[in-house]
Amino acid sequence: MQPAVKLVNVSKTFVGNVRAVDSISIELDPCKIIGIVGPNGAGKSTIMNIVAGYLFPDAGEVWVNGLPVVDFHQAINVCGVVKVDQHPNLAPHLSAAQHLAMLQPTFRPSKTLIPRAEQLLRQLGVDLDLDLRTEDMPIGHLRAFEIVKALLQCEILRSRGLRPVLILDEATNFLPVSQKSVLKQHLRKLVADGYTFIMVSHDLPEIIDVADEILVMVGGKIRTRHQTAGLVVSSLVKSMFDTEVGEKIVSAANVVGNAEAMVLEDFQVRDDRGNIVVNGLTLRVFSGEIHGVAVFPGTGEKELVESIFGLRKLERGRLTIFGQNIRNPSVQLLRKMGVALLSDDRIRDGLLTDGSVYDNLTLGLSDKYTRGGFIIDTKRRTQLAETLIREYGIVTRGLKEPITNLSGGNMQRVYIARVLGRDARILLALHPTTGLDPMGSSLLFQKISELRSKNLTVLMFSPNIKEMMIICDRVSVMRDGKIVGTFIPAQTSVESLGMILSGVQ
Ligand SMILES: Nc1ncnc2c1ncn2[C@@H]1O[C@H](COP(=O)(O)OP(=O)(O)OP(=O)(O)O)[C@@H](O)[C@H]1O
Ligand SMILES: [Mg+2]
Repeated sequence: MQPAVKLVNVSKTFVGNVRAVDSISIELDPCKIIGIVGPNGAGKSTIMNIVAGYLFPDAGEVWVNGLPVVDFHQAINVCGVVKVDQHPNLAPHLSAAQHLAMLQPTFRPSKTLIPRAEQLLRQLGVDLDLDLRTEDMPIGHLRAFEIVKALLQCEILRSRGLRPVLILDEATNFLPVSQKSVLKQHLRKLVADGYTFIMVSHDLPEIIDVADEILVMVGGKIRTRHQTAGLVVSSLVKSMFDTEVGEKIVSAANVVGNAEAMVLEDFQVRDDRGNIVVNGLTLRVFSGEIHGVAVFPGTGEKELVESIFGLRKLERGRLTIFGQNIRNPSVQLLRKMGVALLSDDRIRDGLLTDGSVYDNLTLGLSDKYTRGGFIIDTKRRTQLAETLIREYGIVTRGLKEPITNLSGGNMQRVYIARVLGRDARILLALHPTTGLDPMGSSLLFQKISELRSKNLTVLMFSPNIKEMMIICDRVSVMRDGKIVGTFIPAQTSVESLGMILSGVQ
């Protein structure tokens, strides 16, 4: 059988001598779901961009469905490669419907593609208005739409007799478990119809569940290949890092007291479309506590955090921080009180994408990093940036490197390092481990633990219950805009919280 993808001695070196892809030769079988895993900066996105014709290799040959990949257009239209990128890649001012129109400019999209897109979105359980501009969509909807758009593009190619190869580069990161499982079933059906899928992911249990075969990429090379039947997470981790990733985090028992760092009472908040997405939410977070909130992405958690941080109107409710009632939360006030925000959308909210690694690490530093309050102390800023690079294991060629040259996970590390590298007293974190490899997640949790012993309080939101059960002192479950329960990890289980989150219990 002809391989879906065949690479012969493919290499790619970026300016500054970064060998992102190092002489890879592989053949991938058609009609399979293939997973690609590997540490941040391993070269996964680069090799996928080469297969999709976005990037030219310096050396080697790239074949898809028996045809050489020449460029991006030919890769799609002749070879059948469609890709959903690691970061959202849509025109911000165009609506979802306008993006669909571009898929098939000769037909009226309203007649064909729009009902089909609506059908796929409905199946996924995504309630999305296709006339909404993509910049107004929360990241979870944006990603779901990009996947649906790519599936439609594949359907068009299939109707022309091609055998689509769909690459999903960390595209499912923000999809809740229910959507992931619908998607998995959909992909399985398409495999039987001649499709091949390549999924890049850091969620190792998810990828073992979905894929037929997994390739581990390290340092620009494919290190190992695994059939997924009987495969366990620890084998993949060993292959990625030559070591196990420890799950033991410093116990909090002696640090958490009964003093309340933050209290939210009867919160009500609306989303951008005016819908009430937080309704009657009450939550108490102790000082020095790591408090996790299990939540499906895009179900009000971002709006909640924005309302605490003064970025969104609090329709109703009472916010108390360190015993002080905050009547009109504003970014300035909250920052002054030591509250820091780590958003889920590093590109839109977190990073200065035109800036360098240095700019992004030192952005918004306080007066402490000036001389006399007005002359910028470049030496101290540089020292801080260098320390953060070391402490957070950021892979970069230097402080002057443009941030967009970094791999997605390393961009996330820069963002985390900046936010945690300040003297925050309360950290509000939305889906903080997205894009991090297992080592990066473990490092983040270690840092949070270290900082908490210096009295940092953390309120983090994530759908990853298992991860939160390891690090958090207490885990609350947010559903239908409310906290429906708060639990101590030792007294509950991942399954039980999962059932409560899904509304089964
Ligand atoms: N446009 C670019 N210019 C310079 N270097 C780049 C560029 N794109 C990627 N790199 C470098 O190539 C290496 C591989 O990056 P790549 O994005 O492929 O990693 P990745 O495996 O996808 O990582 P992640 O899991 O963090 O997404 C990294 O060292 C990265 O900094
Ligand atoms: Mg990547």
